[in-house]
Amino acid sequence: MALIAPSILTADFLRLGDELRRAKGADIWHLDIMDGHFVPNLTFGPLVCAAIAQAVAEPVECHLMVERPEDLLARYAEAGVRRLIVHAEATAHLHRVLAQVHHLGCEAGVALNPGTPLSAVAEVADELDLLLVMSVDPGFGGQSFLQSQLDKIARAKRLLPGVAIEVDGGIGPKNARQVVDAGADILVAGSAVFAPGADPALRIAEMRKALHETS
Ligand code: DX5
Ligand code: ZN
Repeated sequence: MALIAPSILTADFLRLGDELRRAKGADIWHLDIMDGHFVPNLTFGPLVCAAIAQAVAEPVECHLMVERPEDLLARYAEAGVRRLIVHAEATAHLHRVLAQVHHLGCEAGVALNPGTPLSAVAEVADELDLLLVMSVDPGFGGQSFLQSQLDKIARAKRLLPGVAIEVDGGIGPKNARQVVDAGADILVAGSAVFAPGADPALRIAEMRKALHETS
């Protein structure tokens, strides 16, 4: 059964601890790190990641939407997160970066923008624990799922046996089953879980129900 990884991007940051506690049913915590260069938005850094990693029982992953991730890997690894995901488009030395992530004791993931072909990871398949297929252009929560990425998810599953396929952007109860049927093992969900006035645990339960119902 697919795992659900809430992204806290649309959570209430003034009450982040409460938000994390209320989102019962999360399998993994997905932390979106944005640097204002690779994407036109800024979020938070390793101090916040460390606080979250200490507060939750589930594994934490950092989705690094940053240029030159190699310069920052150690700080996020020290924050106590399980997995570091770098963008293939953000470094000239993807193979070296993945080796660095493993050396730091973390699992290594690579994210691909919607416009980046799967061939960008074909030569580093042996170093990959996870592939993150972006189903929106990264930078903001609450965007619409790009249907064009469904075929890419299916091809990724065939190309990378043994590598977890995670999908990120525009996923909620209405399309979760479709994304899993295409080949996703992990679904990131931001605004479908954290929205003003919503109960995040209920939102996660609804998504899980949608996964079961049509299977
Ligand atoms: C987009 C981020 C996603 C995003 C998901 O740049 O990587 O993790 O916050 O949010 P939703 O589910 O609202 O698209
Ligand atoms: Zn993300």
